[in-house]
Amino acid sequence: MTRVALAFSGGLDTTVCVPLLEEEYGYDDVIGVTVDVGQPAEEFDEAEETAEALGLEHYVVDARDEFAQLCLESVRANATYQGYPLGTALARPVIAEAILEVAEEHDCTGIAHGCTGKGNDQLRFEAIWRDSDLEVIAPVRELGLTREWEQEYAAEKNLPVEGGSGGDWSIDTNLWSRSIEGDELEDPNYVPPKEIYEWTQDPTGETETIEIEFEEGYPVAVDGEEMDPVSLIEHLNDLAGSYGVGRTDSMEDRMLGLKVRENYEHPAATTLLNAHEALEGLVLTQEEREFKQLIDGKWSKKGYEGLIDAPLVSALEGFIAETQKRVTGTVKIRFEGGQARAVGRDSEFAAYSAAHASFDTETVGKITQEDATGVAKYHGFQRRLANSAVKAAEEKLEVAADGGESDETDE
Ligand code: ARG
Repeated sequence: MTRVALAFSGGLDTTVCVPLLEEEYGYDDVIGVTVDVGQPAEEFDEAEETAEALGLEHYVVDARDEFAQLCLESVRANATYQGYPLGTALARPVIAEAILEVAEEHDCTGIAHGCTGKGNDQLRFEAIWRDSDLEVIAPVRELGLTREWEQEYAAEKNLPVEGGSGGDWSIDTNLWSRSIEGDELEDPNYVPPKEIYEWTQDPTGETETIEIEFEEGYPVAVDGEEMDPVSLIEHLNDLAGSYGVGRTDSMEDRMLGLKVRENYEHPAATTLLNAHEALEGLVLTQEEREFKQLIDGKWSKKGYEGLIDAPLVSALEGFIAETQKRVTGTVKIRFEGGQARAVGRDSEFAAYSAAHASFDTETVGKITQEDATGVAKYHGFQRRLANSAVKAAEEKLEVAADGGESDETDE
């Protein structure tokens, strides 16, 4: 008997995959696996109900802790891609690993997803799965299925597909972000209606200031209350979301090269990323901050690609871990006008001296204001030399142009 494990959500794509894996790929048995990375309860209900109606053996794996930890690693790397904090992207390797484990436990020889051939997720899933010996199957892509075809097929086969719970948008939700795409949103000039948002309220004009505590770059407490990663993220999604924090509307350059219009909600991510960067601003030196931008950018790119297990990422994390040893302290964040703005920061590792920076003190230690005079004289020295050389050359040309030969006589 041959068996295939399918990444199963209970949506149209993965539902039609169940009979297709038997009919088109010849498997005797399909098992469905749903991985919990913080989707809303209704999604599990939908998956459970659909699986039951299909007679599909269905497993749910809880990967919330692991995923939340990865989200916090991404905070240490200030990770965003074109303004998007990578919720879907970071979840994919976690989901792929969990499904692979279930597949191996149940002696599957195949593993399948319902992604189309246009998005990033097919690449992220398969990057993990193609390291195994299982046959990797992507029915929607390989059979060239369209939504219309799937709907007709589902009707013909009497498959349990409801109108879809999420309305007309294609939605992907986990702890770190909620992404909304498709339908009218495919027109880049179409203004998203309020209804696409579920995590964020329109800002009301009210404000609130909270304090987030970090230990070595990891957020550990909010307003003095210690929280595990999952609770901390959920708490901030609720709180910051109620102030309208964390909406993104962007044209995203996907891995295949396509541009896609994406909308996201990510209140906790925006809050934590802003707070973390504010604390780094206090404790890291200028050159560390500058260099870390390159490191963070690379980390983010690998995160977007679903390749966080690449050797490069371990190397980048070596650098990140070294810098984060001092990213311990607190940040005050104010929710105001849909923003989560740092309005205070404190750390025992501050690379900051109020006495040195202040306008009110003249001499601190051995440094006086006058000491800057020499620096000021040298500042921009090379550009002064270079610019005056250019100017001299231009003058020479001008003189030659209007003075004629007479000028060229000196020597
Ligand atoms: N563009 C994002 C990414 O590749 C999110 C895609 C999420 N999918 C969705 N159905 N909205 O990470």
